[in-house]
Amino acid sequence: MPALTDPRDRLIVALDVATVAEAEGLVERIGDAATFYKIGYRLAYAGGLALVPRLAAAGLKVFLDLKLHDIGNTVEEGVRALADLGPTFLTVHAYPQTMRAAVRGRGTGGLQILAVTVLTSYDAADARDAGYALSVPDLVAQRARQAAEAGIDGIVCSAVEAESVRGVIGPDRLIVTPGIRPAGSALGDQKRVMTPGEARRAGIDHVVVGRPITGAADPRAVAHAIVAEMA
Ligand code: C5P
Repeated sequence: MPALTDPRDRLIVALDVATVAEAEGLVERIGDAATFYKIGYRLAYAGGLALVPRLAAAGLKVFLDLKLHDIGNTVEEGVRALADLGPTFLTVHAYPQTMRAAVRGRGTGGLQILAVTVLTSYDAADARDAGYALSVPDLVAQRARQAAEAGIDGIVCSAVEAESVRGVIGPDRLIVTPGIRPAGSALGDQKRVMTPGEARRAGIDHVVVGRPITGAADPRAVAHAIVAEMA
């Protein structure tokens, strides 16, 4: 596993807000308690891509959670265009052709590609409905292995899958995990959660935390506490 020089980098704050102005306000309130922010569909489609170079210029890291999947050429060129914005992480769905294309497009500028194996909203019935013959755990394992073969830099998975995914991808690729809740905070719609400390002990490299920080009266204090718990 590559050594992290700044323990704050283990925490990725999900900027799940409606506008760029709200996102910028939140980043300002959190200040130097966090160094890494995730931009997903909602903010990206509301002008949030323009925030990527601005955050990067301020010395912050950005996880673009765009979960790309298209024909290889389109993925490769799309990833190349996104790499120019300066994000640190970008997600794609874990289809072999898509992953190989993303690895070709990411270049050598420091962008790392993360693969989403099976969406955590899928259960056995959803996987069958979508035409998959494998069970969800078998599909996760197969895709994690294919991700490693494609040269993918890391996997996004739920905390409960982390140990088995680690067994498949080995020590050198990253595991990034949402569904993290500090002890005592509201679960929201997350069901299978771990605390930041449990996540570290399970070998997770980065945790993604949204509402426990974005909805807190003092987001900076919560971010600070999560980093301290993982250190
Ligand atoms: O607010 P909360 O901490 O639940 O936010 C978690 C973030 O991680 C959200 O941006 C959510 O979309 C994302 N995510 C997730 N589960 C996945 C993949 C992404 O919760 N399997």
